[in-house]
Amino acid sequence: MKILVTGGLGFIGSHAVVELLEENYEVVVIDDLSNSSADVVDKIKQITGKDFDFIEADVCDLDVLEKIFTDHKIDAVIHFAGYKAVGESVKEPIMYYENNLVSTLHLCKKMLEHNCNKFIFSSSATVYGDPEKLPITEDCKVGGTTNPYGTTKLMIERILADIHVAHPEFTAIILRYFNPIGAHKSGLIGEKPNGIPNNLMPYIVRVASGELEILSVFGDDYDTPDGTGVRDYIHVVDLAKGHLSALKKALKDEGLFYYNLGTGNGYSVLDLVKNFEKVNNVKVPYKIVDRRPGDIASCYADPTKALKELGWKAELGIEDMMRDSYNFILKQKQ
Ligand code: WQD
Repeated sequence: MKILVTGGLGFIGSHAVVELLEENYEVVVIDDLSNSSADVVDKIKQITGKDFDFIEADVCDLDVLEKIFTDHKIDAVIHFAGYKAVGESVKEPIMYYENNLVSTLHLCKKMLEHNCNKFIFSSSATVYGDPEKLPITEDCKVGGTTNPYGTTKLMIERILADIHVAHPEFTAIILRYFNPIGAHKSGLIGEKPNGIPNNLMPYIVRVASGELEILSVFGDDYDTPDGTGVRDYIHVVDLAKGHLSALKKALKDEGLFYYNLGTGNGYSVLDLVKNFEKVNNVKVPYKIVDRRPGDIASCYADPTKALKELGWKAELGIEDMMRDSYNFILKQKQ
């Protein structure tokens, strides 16, 4: 079974490639290294002891895609490639819509031409906007995204649904991620954002390691137990395993399916800071500042549909997430 993984050297993609290789799938990765580095190829090989094909190219490039689908008999595609920085997407909307939408359209076009009908897509809980209820179930209303990044996810979900109507054999599984953190336990692969991180966990690890001075906590007056924002943090290895469960379903069943990939547990910003300090025995200085525009108070999943239909649930807990996130950063410094 041969799987094409776009963005396979990125944070979530690289962990999924590890899981695929460990389950003996053949893997072809396409990644343009725009937010990843080529050394991840060797790291993945080191972890798994297995080989895979890596093509350094842009998924928007139709000629490259044509060659991949001609050279390989691809059974399914897992599409991670995409720009994902919320703030940047507000400043560069054209770049975000062009890259995220064109790559997906070109990929689906080539898949249909080559009779490849199984597609797994990296969506996001961001499609729920300010959620109509908590915990969030897959039938909650989508829309109300607050930035172009989130809107690209919503638009791609819509595009996939339309393709499925026109080509019922085109099976798409849409995975709505909550907040992925953590790293592989080897410390060889993990999240390496360029520049100053926007997301909470990468910021915490840099404060703990002394690279940044202090964490700004964005607001402590939300309607949550301690006033700080509540999110459903999920270990990236659990998330990667969710893709394998989805892949097995896609290879077996025809249709259009949506699943939340979260743990179902909500942790506040201060819960995360306290857990991180305790597990890693290190201080994370913080100060309370104003709310960040566009943020919501709480967001956590009801993950029962994924359990029922995919047989998947998150196994790793908050301590694993704290330990593995820090371990990765410490390993980078050695
Ligand atoms: C988590 C909590 C912040 C940084 C975003 C995107 C989403 C997805 C993941 C991915 C919030 C607070 C954060 C900081 C803080 N995108 N915070 N200080 O906003 O839930 O989701 O990233 O590719 O689409 O919207 O994640 O990690 O930015 O924030 O207090 O320095 O931490 O206010 O409550 P978010 P996050």
